[in-house]
Amino acid sequence: MTTDYNQGHIAEQYKKAKEQPWRARIETYSLMKRIGDLTGKKVIDIACGEGFFTRKLLQAGAATVVGVDIAERMIELARAQEVAAPLGIEYRVEDARALVPQQAFDLAVSAWLLVYAHDRAELADMCRGLARRLRSGGRFVTFTTNPGLYHFKVPDYGKYGFGVKLADKVAEGAPITWLIQQDGPPLEIENYYIPLSAYESAFRDAGFTSFSVHQPELAPDPQAGDDRTFWADFLDYPPAIVLECVKK
Ligand SMILES: C[S@@+](CC[C@H](N)C(=O)[O-])C[C@H]1O[C@@H](n2cnc3c(N)ncnc32)[C@H](O)[C@@H]1O
Repeated sequence: MTTDYNQGHIAEQYKKAKEQPWRARIETYSLMKRIGDLTGKKVIDIACGEGFFTRKLLQAGAATVVGVDIAERMIELARAQEVAAPLGIEYRVEDARALVPQQAFDLAVSAWLLVYAHDRAELADMCRGLARRLRSGGRFVTFTTNPGLYHFKVPDYGKYGFGVKLADKVAEGAPITWLIQQDGPPLEIENYYIPLSAYESAFRDAGFTSFSVHQPELAPDPQAGDDRTFWADFLDYPPAIVLECVKK
């Protein structure tokens, strides 16, 4: 069933799940490295959740950052953190698919948004919504579930703090369920399979060019030494990837 971040304590549990080490070593490193220099950039974080990347984008030098998310509970958590430690970020409840009047952001980031599209029609709506937020020449960058999970033998990711459950057969809309370890039963987050080629077409149809896919990378950690062996299952069979494209 589609994960509703307004239900129960899912928003709080997801916020806690961002403390798992791979979030810093791989997710944040890979996404922020691909984003590159943020100096002077006008940024929107779409599907910002409780603001994990929204805050990082501002702290990394963006001129302004706006965070939007469809889930009121996520925005409440983001605003609470803004009140506790103000950074000047505006948070709004907003659907990424909304055809807002054309905006002029330099960069749109949306970690884990596209995975909520059940089919190509919903994906097309998301891509059109993203295009409405970017100026011509503006970039879109995301860290997202790897559809390739349905095409390789999925290793046991348990040592990283999560698992991935797939359907018996690959088909568009097939679930990819993340089982995130926490106290008690795992937090289940359901994503949906759409092939990478369909992502590329959806972005092209929405007015984007230069679609590219990047493998996740491991941040060097002098204290951990050379621990690539530990991360090999994640890096060699990546459950998530970075996608990037540019608005024409
Ligand atoms: C897995 S969380 C990721 C949050 C944040 N980007 C992060 O990396 O911490 C996915 C978020 O996508 C939001 N979301 C799902 N569909 C959306 C839509 N159509 N428009 C805006 N947000 C959406 C959910 O409410 C949820 O907060």
